[in-house]
Amino acid sequence: MTVKQTTIRNILILGANGQLARNTTRVFLRDSDATLTLYLRRASRLKNPDPHRVRIVEGDVLDRLTLESAMEGQDVVYANLAGAMKEQAESIVEAMHATGLRRLIFISSMGIYGEVPGEKYRSVLDPYRDAAAVIEASDLDFTILRPGWFSLDEAVAYRITQKGEPFKGHDVSLNSLSDLIVKLATTPGMEVRRSLGVSRA
Ligand SMILES: NC(=O)c1ccc[n+]([C@@H]2O[C@H](COP(=O)([O-])OP(=O)(O)OC[C@H]3O[C@@H](n4cnc5c(N)ncnc54)[C@H](OP(=O)(O)O)[C@@H]3O)[C@@H](O)[C@H]2O)c1
Repeated sequence: MTVKQTTIRNILILGANGQLARNTTRVFLRDSDATLTLYLRRASRLKNPDPHRVRIVEGDVLDRLTLESAMEGQDVVYANLAGAMKEQAESIVEAMHATGLRRLIFISSMGIYGEVPGEKYRSVLDPYRDAAAVIEASDLDFTILRPGWFSLDEAVAYRITQKGEPFKGHDVSLNSLSDLIVKLATTPGMEVRRSLGVSRA
């Protein structure tokens, strides 16, 4: 039996057409009572999965006016982005300050602290590292997730490593990440001001 598990009402999902965001939207609708605002560029790409609980907003995260407008009345921001990560992190932090929001869940990547045994520092992760630094320097109630490679298996089985600990394993299912994101978003105080490695258990 699925337990409905939220007192948090309103969740803003940035980059809502992303692979992980679409999977997590499905899990939010299944496992919580939350109302969702799906924020994305070229919104016509996304079909509204539940018009009673989901609103779709077209916008770029770097467009501060549109972003702040979408943040009005939200409880949690879940950022599922790629590309210009540092600039987007700065835009999100500033917009959250301007609108008085505090809770941010931000998807990053394993390896940003050189924490994956046997993996070298890779410049491809620079934007992720820089974005995490922006968020960690803020006063927000953030949780940064550093997932391993996404896998498509159905299993929900994951372990968490804290910042400063070596990352364990190398992959994690989308369903595991979505399960964790929904729990983080709907459980006040869970893993606040932490940066979590997430990998298959
Ligand atoms: N795949 C893996 O194995 C893996 C492992 C670890 C970490 N990660 C990271 O985890 C994150 C989420 O993964 P994912 O597969 O869900 O990524 P994804 O499918 O590439 O989705 C990222 C989304 O970010 C959106 N975006 C980029 N810039 C934007 C902006 N300025 N304004 C609004 N939206 C913007 C993109 O929108 P558009 O569609 O409009 O471009 C895209 O839909 C990514 O950063 C990924 O690199 C992935």
